[in-house]
Order: sequence, then structure tokens, then C-alpha cells
Amino acid sequence: MEIIKVKDYEAMSEEACAFLVERINRFENPVLGLATGSTPEGLYKRIIEKYNQNEVSFKQVKSFNLDEYVGLEKEDPNSYYYFMKDKLFDHVDITLDNVRVPNGVAADLKEECETHEAAMKAAGGIDIQLLGIGANGHIGFNEPGTPFTSTTHVVDLDESTIEANSRFFNSIEEVPTQAISMGIDTIMRSKEILLLVSGENKAEALAKLINGEVTEDVPASVLQNHANVTVIADEAALSVI
Ligand code: GLP
Repeated sequence: MEIIKVKDYEAMSEEACAFLVERINRFENPVLGLATGSTPEGLYKRIIEKYNQNEVSFKQVKSFNLDEYVGLEKEDPNSYYYFMKDKLFDHVDITLDNVRVPNGVAADLKEECETHEAAMKAAGGIDIQLLGIGANGHIGFNEPGTPFTSTTHVVDLDESTIEANSRFFNSIEEVPTQAISMGIDTIMRSKEILLLVSGENKAEALAKLINGEVTEDVPASVLQNHANVTVIADEAALSVI
């Protein structure tokens, strides 16, 4: 695991942008695993700048998102599909047919999970998976206790996650209680992983990920078992190591 320590959120976003752009340019048909949340927002902003400066193109890119809330339509401003369009897809030359965010309003959610897995497989697997981390150590929406063998599945969100994510909603009652998430096994199958971590509230989780025991109680700890992980973290996130 390579750990790159940077000063702050801005430096993390800058470093992550350089990392991702280098790979998008190097690979003929890059397959990206994308993440939502506050953490990658700065990265997406910088990528759009690079696109506007003709330094990167998404024409050959396929992408798969990690997760989506159950029950939110694509047009719902809190859906992760909307987030991706708003923060990245609408501003670069990606083909929307080449992006896949799990459908949180599918009639058959289990079938939707299988379709997400099959689509990733058909694309040849994820080349680079971008990840954030929850304060409780979750990756994607894989909460503590999720089996390492899990593939894309429907998740009951932890109270702590619902509370943390309620900042984006009008009230906590509006936060969905379920989500579709790539599983731990899905994430581990990606060829390379880029994890971004910023802020003191993630420091405990990051310390456990780097130095702790590999256990299903801390989903992110599984990354110790992956051969190609880069962590870009700021000083605050690395403050308890
Ligand atoms: C959310 C998302 C994760 C994200 C994490 C941290 O619940 N499902 O993919 O990495 O929690 O979010 P943030 O970056 O906003 O702190």
C-alpha cells in the first residue's frame, strides 16, 4: 500500500487528479470505478479543469459507480446518479451510455445487483477504483460486518451513516435506509485502487485501515490484502497514525 501524505483537501484533490488523468491517458479503454460523497468533489472539479484545457478526454472511458440509494430516482438531487451528472458527467465528453450507476428504483433490486456485476465483467473489470471511507470504516456502502466475499448487494444503512449523510437532505427522515453497493469482493477485484481521505473525522478509520487487524468489523481494512492500493490522505486524516 502506498501512502501519499499531502497538506490538505486541496492538495489531496490535486494529487488525485494527476493520478487519475495519467491513467486515463495511458489506458486505451479505461474502466473507472467512481465514488460519490464530499471527498471526491474537489478531484472532479480539477478533472473538469484538465478537460477544459484539453489535457484529458473521457471519450474511451467506461465507468461504474460504487453505490446508489434505494428509492431515489435519477432526477432526485440526492441520488448518486444526479451527483455524478452534476459534478462530472455533464462537464466532460463522456458518453452516458458508457456510465453505469446502480438503479436504486429497479423493480427487482437483486436482479439490478446482478446486472451491475455482469456489466462490470463484460467491460473487462475495473481498472481503477476510486474510494472514499466512512468514519466507521465503510467503503462504498459496505458497513461493518459485511462479508469480504460480498458482491453487489442491497445494504441496510447504519444509523451512523444515515446521520452522517443527513447533511445533504432536508431532514434525517428523508435519508434512505437502504442502498445498493458494490460488495467487498467486487472492490477487491479491481486492478488498482485509489483511496482518498481528508479530515480529522476520518483519522481513526484510516489508522485502522493502515495499521489495524484485517477484519470484517472494519471493511476498509481488507485493502491491506490488495496488491495495488494508493492512499492519498491529508495531514488531518493521518493525525493519529
Ligand atoms: C458515503 C458513500 C461512500 C463515501 C463515504 C464518505 O456514505 N457511500 O462511498 O466514501 O460515505 O463520504 P464523504 O466523502 O462525504 O465523507
